Amino acid sequence: MGSVRWAFRCGSWTPSRSDWLFAARCVQREEKDRIGQFVFAKDAKSAMIQLSLCTSNTLACLSLRQAGRLLLRKCVCERMGIPWSEIRLERSPKGKPYLAAPMKVSPDPGSGHPAWSFNLSHQGDYAVLAAEQGAQVGVDIMKTTMPGSSSVPEFFRIMTRQFTAYEWSVIQSGASEHQQLAAFYRHWALKESFIKAIGTGLGFNLQRVEFHLSPEPLTPKYALRQTKMHLDEEEDDDWVFEESLLDTDHHVAVALGPADNADSAPLRPSFPPPTSFTLLSFSDLIASASPLTEEDPACWDSFKMKAEAPLRQKETHAST
Ligand SMILES: CC(C)(COP(=O)(O)OP(=O)(O)OC[C@H]1O[C@@H](n2cnc3c(N)ncnc32)[C@H](O)[C@@H]1OP(=O)(O)O)[C@@H](O)C(=O)NCCC(=O)NCCS
Repeated sequence: MGSVRWAFRCGSWTPSRSDWLFAARCVQREEKDRIGQFVFAKDAKSAMIQLSLCTSNTLACLSLRQAGRLLLRKCVCERMGIPWSEIRLERSPKGKPYLAAPMKVSPDPGSGHPAWSFNLSHQGDYAVLAAEQGAQVGVDIMKTTMPGSSSVPEFFRIMTRQFTAYEWSVIQSGASEHQQLAAFYRHWALKESFIKAIGTGLGFNLQRVEFHLSPEPLTPKYALRQTKMHLDEEEDDDWVFEESLLDTDHHVAVALGPADNADSAPLRPSFPPPTSFTLLSFSDLIASASPLTEEDPACWDSFKMKAEAPLRQKETHAST
């Protein structure tokens, strides 16, 4: 059984023109266009969270998306053994990327090589990828930050419906606002990792799942698996949640569940020991990459223009 946990730190990546243009050539055309069309604050996790984390650094947001695409292709290429140029990624109706061609990862119960599942998340300073053989996987990363435009109590009030009364009691038991926010984002990442594993996106009633956190504290060195999920008020042992800190502010949750095999009843996978995230460099990201399209210099112009737009806005506001 294979397992991949990769992280790329976009917060410290300032792509050169040649890096950016090369990266753009190595992803599918429609994904490149999708990244190009990204306008800050448009695709909010929640408007408030996005506003505080994204508009201040559009360059990082674009880089996160680009890195995410490269992480996906690298994983399919290196772990599933599919040449970069043959990989065809598509999205489910709810937006979850999957490998459409070649069909090498399709379930093949008799082969002894269970299908891979993968998922991406990008937020704060990192893009992360989790992939697992023989299990459904969802990943979510959240950075602990102060809300951009309201007090912490007001922020929590707006988010009331995202968590159960029990979860709020745990979140609000933190001794400081920072500890409460850290617990808030930890719960958020857990919930989102489950939603992303099942691929439903918006529309899932978040009150149906409730997390009971591991009493053991999280540290940046190890991944923990003690946190339990209750689904519809029953503890659900089919799902395992792997939690880790990439640094003191970035919390990652990986949800692992029974493989979604349409031809057979779901099997409870026996997961390998928890793996911590490996930090990749840009050279690692593109190590197996090969260009799919011609160089498009306009892509760099558009990137620079978007990256500088918030700065220009700030300057305009400052001078009026
Ligand atoms: C996409 C969604 C599932 C997660 O998005 P997000 O948490 O804002 O962003 P993340 O960075 O963690 O994940 C985005 C990536 O997930 C993947 N993704 C998109 N739709 C997905 C889906 N339905 N299921 C799983 N993964 C999905 C994509 O790879 C996407 O990145 P890309 O567009 O660059 O390829 C989001 O639309 C959503 O519906 N979230 C639930 C909203 C909610 O109320 N959460 C509250 C939790 S307390």
